[in-house]
Amino acid sequence: MKIDVLTLFPSMFEPVMSQSMMWKARDRGLLDFQAHDIRDYAVDKHRKVDDTPYGGGGGMVLKPDVLVRAIEAVKPEKQSPVILMSPQGRLLTHRVAVELSQHAHLILVCGHYEGVDERLRQIAITDEISIGDYVLTGGELAAMVLIDAVLRQIPGVLGAEGAQNRDSHADGLGGLLEGPHYTRPAEFRGLGVPAVLTSGHHAEVERWRRRQALKRTWQMRPDLLAGADLSDEDRAYLAGLIEEAGD
Ligand code: ADE
Repeated sequence: MKIDVLTLFPSMFEPVMSQSMMWKARDRGLLDFQAHDIRDYAVDKHRKVDDTPYGGGGGMVLKPDVLVRAIEAVKPEKQSPVILMSPQGRLLTHRVAVELSQHAHLILVCGHYEGVDERLRQIAITDEISIGDYVLTGGELAAMVLIDAVLRQIPGVLGAEGAQNRDSHADGLGGLLEGPHYTRPAEFRGLGVPAVLTSGHHAEVERWRRRQALKRTWQMRPDLLAGADLSDEDRAYLAGLIEEAGD
């Protein structure tokens, strides 16, 4: 996958994009990433990228001519999505990350200041994504969150093939949160490990994991249960939990 980011702060990306999974994806040739400085597309002698809003009011607005020039410079393919990172966009969810992972090329536009000139949306933006209902100072951190969530959906990026399918929210878990994990030591500050995990009984371990995922989702994000893919056994287990809590 190729990802081009348009930003006023390209140096924010390098520390993140050169670590961990992001770096592995690049090293394995699965990600071709570039951060482009929007200012390089300003043509006046002051390299001006923003201006005061028509109609008055505070803040500065990113100029449409500079941004359109930047987008056109990195967009050889007509079908590549051009995504504006913005608190007004559709929410980034697991489903959206999977959808975006299917594109060969993404262009991410990071806004700053009060916002972008509305004509940019009309001319060059094909999608608008928010990472949550809060306002960040700029789109850079949001773009990095999006890149992380999208990349882990690309086969070969995570070490263990299919590991992303066992993540919280993934289809393999039917839209549930993951249950708890344990590793050595077997006892830590007086706390042990559930016996089933050391029993060597694979089917029992799987059953326990499913129930823990159901329990955690019910405790932490009960709203997810409405859209989850549940078997009759899952429903019976949840009914038991609810009954127990009511006692
Ligand atoms: N830019 C500012 N706030 C944002 C948010 N919540 N999501 C994406 N981009 C943003």
